[in-house]
Amino acid sequence: MTLPTAVPADTSPISAWDSGDGLDAVWRSIVVESRARANDIHLPISFAFAERLCDAYPEADSLVVRVAILLHDTGWARVDESRILSEGFTGDWRQADVRYEHERHGCAIAREVLPPLGYDPAFITRVTDIIDGHDTRPDSRSLEDSLVRDADRLWRFTPAGIALASGWFGLTPAEYCRRLRSEIIPELLTEAAVQMADAELSRSESLLKTGQLS
Ligand SMILES: [Fe+2]
Ligand SMILES: [Fe+2]
Repeated sequence: MTLPTAVPADTSPISAWDSGDGLDAVWRSIVVESRARANDIHLPISFAFAERLCDAYPEADSLVVRVAILLHDTGWARVDESRILSEGFTGDWRQADVRYEHERHGCAIAREVLPPLGYDPAFITRVTDIIDGHDTRPDSRSLEDSLVRDADRLWRFTPAGIALASGWFGLTPAEYCRRLRSEIIPELLTEAAVQMADAELSRSESLLKTGQLS
């Protein structure tokens, strides 16, 4: 059962999203970390979805959601690059050691970059509580946690996400789109995210001609 919303979800192409996010200083503080594991594609696209989800769930603390999604995967920059692909995407990849490591490093990075930008300890703890376990903890602990988890998945439904993630998992784009539909949509926690995923995936499948190229 997904979390319903009284606010209609914006399902237009995410590439048309124009964010005046006010978080430039945070983005600039993670340039180095953005170079790992395509974070410079994943984080901005997931961030855009997070902003849309916050619009659909106005009761959420949007600053917590937006800062948490912005920083959640920066820890990959401190994990050995070769182990990301060898351990992070094969076998029981959700429970691989590198997954726990990137969460721990991500929390450390949040504690490094946020205090000099004026964020207080209580806020930073709310952010790190979401980053810690975002891939490995089975359950969401709050609405903000749920919105981050859904935004983290939604980027994969875009052509950019399909291009990168299908390569990581060694699947064709068509195979990966089928996995998105059968495995990832059922994992989404909010109704708004399901609507956005459906709309984005239908457009991506059509654009990439996955019906013909499968
Ligand atoms: Fe992650
Ligand atoms: Fe992520």
